[in-house]
Amino acid sequence: MTYLITGATGDVGSLVVKRLIDRGERPRIFVRDSQKAVGRYQDQVEIFVGDLEDPETLKPALEGVNGLMLATAGHNLATHDEIAAKTAKSAGVARLVKLSSYDAREQNCGTGVWHAQGESAIRATGIPWVFVQPSGFMSSALLWASSIRSKGVFRTATGNGRVAFIHPDDIADVVTKALLSEVYLGQSLPITGPEALSYAEMASKIGFAIGRSIRFQSISEEEARQQQVSRGVSLPLVEAHLSIFRAIREGRLTTVTDTVERVLRRMPLTFEQWAKENAAAFV
Ligand SMILES: NC(=O)c1ccc[n+]([C@@H]2O[C@H](COP(=O)([O-])OP(=O)(O)OC[C@H]3O[C@@H](n4cnc5c(N)ncnc54)[C@H](OP(=O)(O)O)[C@@H]3O)[C@@H](O)[C@H]2O)c1
Repeated sequence: MTYLITGATGDVGSLVVKRLIDRGERPRIFVRDSQKAVGRYQDQVEIFVGDLEDPETLKPALEGVNGLMLATAGHNLATHDEIAAKTAKSAGVARLVKLSSYDAREQNCGTGVWHAQGESAIRATGIPWVFVQPSGFMSSALLWASSIRSKGVFRTATGNGRVAFIHPDDIADVVTKALLSEVYLGQSLPITGPEALSYAEMASKIGFAIGRSIRFQSISEEEARQQQVSRGVSLPLVEAHLSIFRAIREGRLTTVTDTVERVLRRMPLTFEQWAKENAAAFV
């Protein structure tokens, strides 16, 4: 079997590549920046350089591929999905596993709008697919690290809302399983962490991991907008993030699914565990 992983320099894509290497595979990866990829993987992977905006750069990478993991980001992600699915279908790829979003199930929420469009475009090509739909990544909490380090507090516009963030290792395990097996073809797999936590509870769990009291403070949507703009986030993404915060505030993203347990035959990893593993980032 030959596998191609896109988004291999990203959070989840890199974990999937690692899992394939650990199984003795030498996967192909499709990246925009070969230096980044060489630095990370040396010769453990076969590197193809290109851009998901440009199908001509993707064609050589997909020749002879059986399984494609499609991970990408940004407000053009549905276009990337369409280009990749059409190119993969023409190349005879047997299985496409898309890293989608739980929010694709809630049509007006966050990047889910773009992911829902991407899923439709993939379905329309007729290629056999699996859509892995994670809730927010626990690693998103790294965005709070600098404020926690300097002031012992972090601020988001999520009010008293709760969300069941998922550990990136769980996402990567589910994606890898879907890539290696035919069992999940034609299925959407909505995956979440084991419990919906408030931001104050997540603050307390990070505090426990680093032995220091950490506070969460809710801010207005306008303050959150300014915060994101000052971090250099693109305007479409800022609006997507604000709509996720709104959904969390309004209690629309509290769902906990049993999909990780069903697919991996083990419980999803907890936020406590993630905070312990990543404690160094917060001190
Ligand atoms: N973060 C969350 O909480 C969350 C929750 C649910 C779903 N998701 C979804 O998960 C996906 C990955 O998110 P992430 O936060 O893990 O992002 P990430 O770590 O930044 O990964 C994105 C990857 O896509 C690659 N990429 C972007 N545009 C590309 C293009 N035009 N051509 C080729 N490669 C391209 C990036 O490559 P470069 O290194 O070249 O930039 C990077 O490797 C996104 O679709 C996001 O919507 C995220």
